[in-house]
Amino acid sequence: MIQFKTKIAEEISNVTNINKEELEGYIEMPKDSKNGDYAFPCFRLAKELKKAPPMIANEIKEKIKIDEELIEKVEVAGGYLNFYIKKEKLVNEVLKEMESSKEYGKMNIGNGKNIVIDYSAPNIAKPFHIGHLRSTVIGAALYKIYKYLGYNVTGINHLGDYGTQFGKLIEGYKLWGNEYNIEENPIEELTKIYIRINNLCKEDEKVLEACRNNFKKLEDKDPYCVKLWEEFRKLSLKEFQKVYDLLGSEFDSWNGEAFYSDKMPEVIEKLEKTGRLVESQGAKVIDLSDKGIDTPCIIIKSNGSTTYATRDLAAILYRARNYDFDKALYVVSYEQTLHFKQVFEVAKLLGLDEKYTKGLEHVSFGMVQLPEGKMSTREGNVVKLDDLLKESIDRARKIIEEKNPDLENKEETAKKVGVGAVIFNDLANSRIKDEIFDWNTALNFQGETGPYIQYTYVRTKSILEKAGKLPEFKDINVEELLDDYSQEVLKLLYNFDDILIQVTKKEEPSILSRYLIDLAKSFSSFYNENKIIVEDKKVRNARVFLTYCVGQVLKIGASLLGIEMPEKM
Ligand code: ARG
Repeated sequence: MIQFKTKIAEEISNVTNINKEELEGYIEMPKDSKNGDYAFPCFRLAKELKKAPPMIANEIKEKIKIDEELIEKVEVAGGYLNFYIKKEKLVNEVLKEMESSKEYGKMNIGNGKNIVIDYSAPNIAKPFHIGHLRSTVIGAALYKIYKYLGYNVTGINHLGDYGTQFGKLIEGYKLWGNEYNIEENPIEELTKIYIRINNLCKEDEKVLEACRNNFKKLEDKDPYCVKLWEEFRKLSLKEFQKVYDLLGSEFDSWNGEAFYSDKMPEVIEKLEKTGRLVESQGAKVIDLSDKGIDTPCIIIKSNGSTTYATRDLAAILYRARNYDFDKALYVVSYEQTLHFKQVFEVAKLLGLDEKYTKGLEHVSFGMVQLPEGKMSTREGNVVKLDDLLKESIDRARKIIEEKNPDLENKEETAKKVGVGAVIFNDLANSRIKDEIFDWNTALNFQGETGPYIQYTYVRTKSILEKAGKLPEFKDINVEELLDDYSQEVLKLLYNFDDILIQVTKKEEPSILSRYLIDLAKSFSSFYNENKIIVEDKKVRNARVFLTYCVGQVLKIGASLLGIEMPEKM
């Protein structure tokens, strides 16, 4: 498609001699189309050109040569230059592209670039909590969007499957394993054992010693300890898989923390060599106060064992070597901000190329608050996320039962709607915001929700079904789509690829979720104002085709967020 923004930047560059990439970065898209489709804020050049913005605006307007095929008019408004693109051209560009490509908006701008995304990462023998769910959903959306833009993406589930707690679990299991039904309810039962052994450790120094010993044995590959550890891991993964199956999550690598157990000596050696690894209360730490980080990063604990941070450092070395990443994203709750600050800082001491240390990024997100009652995480009461998803599906099924009792495939639709509601809820607002999970909000078919987007999609489908054969682009008269409502929809469709790029610039899938809501709303306005199935063939063809375009983009966009579309609901 023609890049209007680039064209405008080029023309401004011709008359100002300022670099066109820089100029393109300044161009805005006004919220209200009265102010044009694109606006150039001249104050950005005031310093360089030593003139007042309105004067710059006027001068550029005088000199600029605009391509009349593309741009309708240019106007000065204060310090802004507003560009109005030619409506016919917009229609042409969008419809043509839609007809010629099955995957609208797909790009290859990422070709040759490697992205590693570390997401989900629940802890073995501990509950898969709502924060892990959010990481899974945000990570999966970024994964899909990067792929769509042509990047080579690796999704890693950095499982928490290592650490001193396994020494404790092994001890607890040795003592009381036969009292618990671990096969049946692995996470719940192992959590109980963990709490019980922890309490015993507080009372009895000898037990604590035995636990430490077990972990040491595990590290030294003692067969009994390894066997138990494998069993715990296997049972936990089976439980986690229930959630992944419902969400449709996939990973390219399941290398968790344990994978790095034999890769830490290299990290320690490298850090030793820098002379920065110092003793502190029996532990070995890197002091980071010169970097404005008050808490030192612990590399080896006073009892000799390695830490979560040491394993993350080993993982950085491994990922740099094996994936040659341009960016490595860590989709982890904001509670670990300090951890990642420390790790990214210490990583600079590992002798890696700057490319890698610069590519490390903590994609943090806010807390999720669950509704009170059954789902709340009171002490000892484990929230099972597959139950949360199932409840969402149940509620969706009830709503469908009320609204459309004769629907075929009710079960499949309920699943798509219920799961889609939970996913969209996680992505609806900027990720750093805390989120309150509320059933009535998440499942409201009229609200800014997943089901609303699905519902709008289904509406486009039923219109298309009524209309019969989809018209071809050559049969469409561009003149029929010049009204404000159609234009609003077309402008959004045109912006789709820009939206995807913005998501990757900010690692913010909510930009796409907001966009889909805007598109669904603007389609509703279009639909309320313009009757689609009308007698006049020309009008009808044009409107039907536009409806088709909206459906396509809603479907592609939702699938990039991990949400599946029902065909009917
Ligand atoms: N397992 C960790 C937790 O539940 C998250 C791991 C995130 N990834 C990482 N490379 N540190 O808190």
